Amino acid sequence: MKSETMPLHILVIVASTRPGRLAPAIADWFVQATRPEAAGDQISVDVADLADIGLPLLDEPEHPSSGIYLHEHTRAWSRRVAAADAFVVVTPEYNYGMPAALKNALDFLYHEWAWKPVAFVSYGNTSAGTRSVQMTKQVITTLKMMPIGATVALRIADSTRQGQVLESADLEQTAREMLLELSRVARAMRHLRTATDDDEGSVRGPVDGLTLATARDDDLAELLVLQRCCWMQEALDNDTLDLAPLHETLEDLDASTSTWHVWCLRQYGRLIAAVRARRQGPAWVIGRLMVAPDQAGKGIGSWLLSYAEQRAPAQTTHHALFTGHKSTRNIDLYQRVGYVLTSADQTADDTVYLTKPRQLCT
Ligand SMILES: Cc1cc2nc3c(=O)[nH]c(=O)nc-3n(C[C@H](O)[C@H](O)[C@H](O)COP(=O)(O)O)c2cc1C
Repeated sequence: MKSETMPLHILVIVASTRPGRLAPAIADWFVQATRPEAAGDQISVDVADLADIGLPLLDEPEHPSSGIYLHEHTRAWSRRVAAADAFVVVTPEYNYGMPAALKNALDFLYHEWAWKPVAFVSYGNTSAGTRSVQMTKQVITTLKMMPIGATVALRIADSTRQGQVLESADLEQTAREMLLELSRVARAMRHLRTATDDDEGSVRGPVDGLTLATARDDDLAELLVLQRCCWMQEALDNDTLDLAPLHETLEDLDASTSTWHVWCLRQYGRLIAAVRARRQGPAWVIGRLMVAPDQAGKGIGSWLLSYAEQRAPAQTTHHALFTGHKSTRNIDLYQRVGYVLTSADQTADDTVYLTKPRQLCT
């Protein structure tokens, strides 16, 4: 399907949260006014009302760029934002600026926002909310989002009565034109999200047809099968079945996604590899690197390891991983790409630990 005709998903973010607010009426007006254009241009619209979503003030211990989310409210917000191709922010102006709830909702996430356009429906008194929009633009460009030129700005005294937007053919036309400009830019920007290795999506790697994505609930059963399959070799090499990856349940795997960032690599839809990582003090701990046995020897493992290394947060100084002391194939791979055995070398449980300084990453 050509990207110009691909369905688009737009998230309308309602940025004010106070009781008695005007925001829902403005958002509703925008959705109704643009409904025919949305249907005609294959656009689905979802409204994310920050008052309903109820995010607390940012309460995640890790930097959002790590993608490691401890709380379910963050994961739910992440899923919603990640699913969107573009955003319409419906925002008032508070003290010449953006509402704190909007800033907080933006701060919660990082990669999910990137390379997506944003349009604004602002409202307020004399300035019609435009100072809030200007301030928000400064923030969203840091998140690699792109504000579009078209905008809708309502002066409350002129455009609303008793909490409702007054009928105005001109204003509705402006809203429709803005939606179409947003969809045009969103379709063009899709390439930025799929053609590079900086983001999740289609990636260029050692074999064709690869897509890389953070593990979602739907991936976990397949991931568990791949994991058991991959750790059989480890069991044979080390002459033991006492290996956690062989015994983990679906529930264990599910729980691990709240403390680890897990990536799944698929080839034409088939799960062929995975890896996980998380920050532990100054270390970026990488683990569960697995490649389907029939895909071994194609450079997929080292490519995925390098991908995980590149995701290390700025605060980390080195990468760390471990494997069984007789897993020579793994150890060879790690040493080939710059890891060295730590001084502890081998522990009582026959595990070896390896590290690599972060600046050595290619
Ligand atoms: C805390 C606060 C600060 C405000 N500051 C401004 C402002 O700087 N400029 C402006 O035009 N209106 C300002 N207003 C008036 C808002 O434009 C108006 O109350 C609007 O309805 C707020 O949106 P909401 O009802 O969705 O919360 C402010 C309102 C509040 C509650």
